[in-house]
Amino acid sequence: MRIVVLVSGTGSNLQAVIDAVASGGLDVEIAAVGADRAGTGGVARSAAAGLETFEVPFRDYTDRAEWNHALTQKCLSYAPDYVVSSGFMRIVGEEFIAAFDGTYINTHPALLPAFPGAHGVRDALAYGVKVTGCTVHIADTGVDTGPILAQRAVEVLDDDSEESLHERIKVAERALLIETLAHLAAGQRARS
Ligand code: GRF
Repeated sequence: MRIVVLVSGTGSNLQAVIDAVASGGLDVEIAAVGADRAGTGGVARSAAAGLETFEVPFRDYTDRAEWNHALTQKCLSYAPDYVVSSGFMRIVGEEFIAAFDGTYINTHPALLPAFPGAHGVRDALAYGVKVTGCTVHIADTGVDTGPILAQRAVEVLDDDSEESLHERIKVAERALLIETLAHLAAGQRARS
């Protein structure tokens, strides 16, 4: 199973996937890692691991549709079975979703459909929930919407800050992402 991973940030979840592949614990091929801006930690980690990388910086395009077209074409050029949004903080458009219909996977640091959006951890904490978690789902053109593949609960502690809670969620999120990719890869092998 070939995957392209999209990142916007530090890429610590991506690193867990890279490590799982390197140790033989996850049988997928990371065809490339792409980012929506220059200079992400995610691309730096990937280059250090010897992976193919690309950047399609949002700010280089005059409008969202043009950027979306460029991102779609770039991802298609790697012929991936799945595209994984791992902390990719941009909503993709219709053209992208049409190209990767049912094969665009997103991870989110909350139990969807609760607390979608860029501040899922902060919003859960502010609401005062006692349990939150993470979700891996098939993404569509909405904000963290689409069929749920897997979820894991994480307890909120009385003295949690957004940072401490997010760190614990990320531990669960990394394991959940790797398990979900392993499951999808097994399905892919069974079909071929
Ligand atoms: C993850 O919690 C992801 O779900 C969220 O941002 C975090 C990405 O962290 N949208 P990293 O870049 O993998 O360290």
